Amino acid sequence: MAIHITTLLILTILYCVESTPLFSSEDEYHFKSWMSKYNRRYDLEEYYHRLQIFTENKKMIDRHNAGNHKFTMGLNEFSDMTFAEFKKTFLLTEPQNCSATKGGHVSTNGPYPDSVDWREKGNYVTPVKNQGPCGSCWTFSTTGCLESVTAIATGKLLLLSEQQLVDCAQAFNNHGCNGGLPSQAFEYIKYNKGLMTEQGYPYTAQEASCKFKPEMAAAFVKEVVNITKYDEMGMVDAVARLNPVSFAYEVTSDFMHYKDGVYSSTVCHNTTDMVNHAVLAVGYGEENSTPYWIVKNSWGTYWGMNGYFLIERGKNMCGLAACSSYPLPLV
Ligand SMILES: *[C@@H]1O[C@H](CO)[C@@H](O)[C@H](O)[C@H]1NC(C)=O
Ligand SMILES: *[C@@H]1O[C@H](CO)[C@@H](O)[C@H](O)[C@H]1NC(C)=O
Ligand SMILES: *[C@@H]1O[C@H](CO)[C@@H](O)[C@H](O)[C@H]1NC(C)=O
Repeated sequence: MAIHITTLLILTILYCVESTPLFSSEDEYHFKSWMSKYNRRYDLEEYYHRLQIFTENKKMIDRHNAGNHKFTMGLNEFSDMTFAEFKKTFLLTEPQNCSATKGGHVSTNGPYPDSVDWREKGNYVTPVKNQGPCGSCWTFSTTGCLESVTAIATGKLLLLSEQQLVDCAQAFNNHGCNGGLPSQAFEYIKYNKGLMTEQGYPYTAQEASCKFKPEMAAAFVKEVVNITKYDEMGMVDAVARLNPVSFAYEVTSDFMHYKDGVYSSTVCHNTTDMVNHAVLAVGYGEENSTPYWIVKNSWGTYWGMNGYFLIERGKNMCGLAACSSYPLPLV
């Protein structure tokens, strides 16, 4: 009998060790300071679930930062999420129709400056915005690009409406919070005859019925210019000579934790069918002989480098040259 009880006790202890995750007080300390920084509250069960995910993310971040990489990772507002959750909430979940086998952009032969930054050329780039929990990255890439090309043409920098694109651009293969493409959104704006301002049609991060008012249209598209797929030099030509350029690429789990430096990945894919996020190239440069793009994201100003990131240029990294475009403004 005594033996049985001992066995039972040992089994119980083993079972407990296996079923309740053990966290060091240091893990909890890190998690609690992160929670207070990002203003999070959970009930008890959720607390342990999130603590576990956070601790795994933090381990991955620390491991990455201890290695020799061109970019660093850090904790951010997504640190309590798994990549699967992140993907479902923020990224394009279906393959997009970007297939410009022959784009309309005509490149010159250069020469091109070593670096370009449209944020420094004048008042041409609006502040970083935040898409929130909605797969509407494509609308932010679109407004960002149209805001810039319009400002370059007119000298006036307006904030334009993402919500109008979320609510109204379905006829051009766009799907509100479930994804779309900048090139298709530019087509919509062209045929719709205009896009309203941010103030006129504010962002809610939720799909609703279309409330476009033609008399309140503030920016217009004359023509949509696609850059031929995988022609990354075409993107350099456009950014160097003309304006910022919208592009899409594949976000993988390492990118979710990006903090600074030149992002470069060996796990992402590089083809048109795999892109799942759209952003805006506002310039390019080179650091320690690694060429990079300067990119405006739509995950708020706390993410990355004040909302921006750098990504390796010249290798179609993560498919970034798979589907890029910009509009010609009608002014
Ligand atoms: C640009 O590409 C999109 C698909 O991404 C396509 O629907 C559109 O027709 C193209 N526009 C032009 C002007 O080639
Ligand atoms: C791609 O284009 C086809 C044909 O126009 C359409 O049915 C499909 O929904 C599009 N896919 C996406 C993700 O927009
Ligand atoms: C994608 O990457 C592979 C492996 O590095 C390379 O062989 C291929 O040419 C790339 N394809 C494109 C379209 O960039």
